[in-house]
Amino acid sequence: MQAKAREVHVPPVLQDLRAGTAELHIALEKRLPFFSDTLDLRAFERLMRAYHGFYHPLEAALRDSGALPADFDLDTRLKAPTLQRDLQALGANGTDFSDCRQLPVIDSAAAALGVLYVLEGATLGGQILRREIAARLGLGADNGAAFLDIYGAATGRRWRDFIEYLGSRPMDTDEREAVVAAAHTTFSCFERWLESQEVLV
Ligand code: HEM
Repeated sequence: MQAKAREVHVPPVLQDLRAGTAELHIALEKRLPFFSDTLDLRAFERLMRAYHGFYHPLEAALRDSGALPADFDLDTRLKAPTLQRDLQALGANGTDFSDCRQLPVIDSAAAALGVLYVLEGATLGGQILRREIAARLGLGADNGAAFLDIYGAATGRRWRDFIEYLGSRPMDTDEREAVVAAAHTTFSCFERWLESQEVLV
């Protein structure tokens, strides 16, 4: 994959996550239409609607699962509210967006962390997509593309904080496997959902 954001130490669970999801990332990246010549404002709105339809129920599931470690601050990492504001800025009709129902099961701290790895990691690619969408569609933080730059200048630091948190938790082999399985399922559920919403290339 691409050059990694500066990291001091790569914990074993992160090595496993990368080995377990790199292929899924590459496959999904290829099918997302951010760089497609046919991506216009309408198609971008439909894409962000589909993103919202996944992030919204998944973040609610994380919150309601009771499985998140008590010292993890989910509120400051929620992205669905920003997606909702983007959709309003883009003029999306109504607030009743449809939600994905086939989500990864979050029945342990390990599963919650696997899901979060995917949602947090996606902010890194957002930095590339943000530039593309600004150039292609003239959208930025104020008019419909805040999600792509959700952590702004803090993106790298917040990723490293997350990785440090992940690496600081004692995990046995079974737990590491559960983290990777949840991350894997998150990627595949997202891809299946996006496909069902007909927003992939
Ligand atoms: C066209 C769309 C995308 C592009 C161009 C892209 C690009 C990237 C890039 C460049 C990185 C590495 C950044 C760095 O290490 O500094 C990255 C990491 C990552 N991306 Fe994406 N990405 C895209 C979509 C997604 C999506 C949709 C997801 C999941 C919902 C995702 C999840 C991740 C994860 C989990 C990582 C962290 C990998 C790691 O270092 O362990 N990406 N992406």
